[in-house]
Amino acid sequence: MPDLVRFSVSMNGDLATRFDRLIRRRGYPSRSEAVRDMVRRELVRQEWENPDAEAVGTVTLVYDHHVRDLSERLTEMQHRQHHLVTSTTHVHLTHDHCLEVIVVRGRARDVQALADKLIATRGVLHGELVATAMGKAFQGKPSQKHHAH
Ligand code: NI
Repeated sequence: MPDLVRFSVSMNGDLATRFDRLIRRRGYPSRSEAVRDMVRRELVRQEWENPDAEAVGTVTLVYDHHVRDLSERLTEMQHRQHHLVTSTTHVHLTHDHCLEVIVVRGRARDVQALADKLIATRGVLHGELVATAMGKAFQGKPSQKHHAH
């Protein structure tokens, strides 16, 4: 494990109170863990600001499958960019609605463009790209959280 660096943070009482409330609500075990997560989130965000960076994330879509040809169009878009699509999970949510979670990986600009196109398709009721990262941002992460592998 790399060296542990300690530093203190000053902020006014009101901000600190709100921060502690947020920590409790989210269930963080400590201020340090909350700050580490915030820093990592910013580092991931920064990675995505480089359009040529290798990026990974998920696109979540909810759509009405009664809209004519919508399922086919969404599938077609993914086939056209198959090098960016790692996997797709489809859930028949209700009689009318489908949920799709697409794992995307590739150049940040290409992944973002595909996500934008899918989300903007008529009939898609809700869509969001969750941008995450593979490596650099998480270096030195303490192993106190449970991971699948
Ligand atoms: Ni369905």
